[in-house]
Amino acid sequence: MTDIGELLLSRIRDVTDYPEPGVMFKDITPLLADPAAFTALTDALAEIAGRTGATKVVGLEARGFILGAPVAVRAGLGFIPVRKAGKLPGATLAQAYDLEYGSAEIEVHAEDLSAEDRVLVVDDVLATGGTAEASVQLIRRAGAEVAGLAVLMELGFLGGRARLEPALAGAPLEAL
Ligand code: PRP
Repeated sequence: MTDIGELLLSRIRDVTDYPEPGVMFKDITPLLADPAAFTALTDALAEIAGRTGATKVVGLEARGFILGAPVAVRAGLGFIPVRKAGKLPGATLAQAYDLEYGSAEIEVHAEDLSAEDRVLVVDDVLATGGTAEASVQLIRRAGAEVAGLAVLMELGFLGGRARLEPALAGAPLEAL
């Protein structure tokens, strides 16, 4: 593993049986509280934004906001929040996706993205890939191009990367 990978991993706390029995929660709050680690993460994600030619950063509610906003500032790009349904006041595009039990919906302000945009999606965790896949579909429906998806960590055993491949259509998926 790279030095930055080891630094970031060392600041992620495993919490057993949270939020329900049988789940191991990846808590990123120790990383956020450590300025060296948070800065290293922001710099690494901003480098991906530059390398992929992104013109906007999309952050996925809620932890994708915490990570994506400083990346946008560092890279000199606009930040667009993709929110859970019902939180944005303007005209939105919505995308539903399946959860293990039931479904969920995310939204973006339609006016925030256009055909001129190349969008880097930022989030903390790639698990089943459902949220990221829906965000990619939303960005394309808004007429914008997907520059890539960048996450702090990928839970490989849940198969998110394979699920996302068709939606990403060759755009890179980078997990630090
Ligand atoms: C978590 C995580 C990702 C998503 C990953 O967010 O931050 O956004 O789930 O899961 P998936 O790959 O299986 O879709 P959550 O929905 O818990 O929202 P939160 O950040 O608001 O807690």
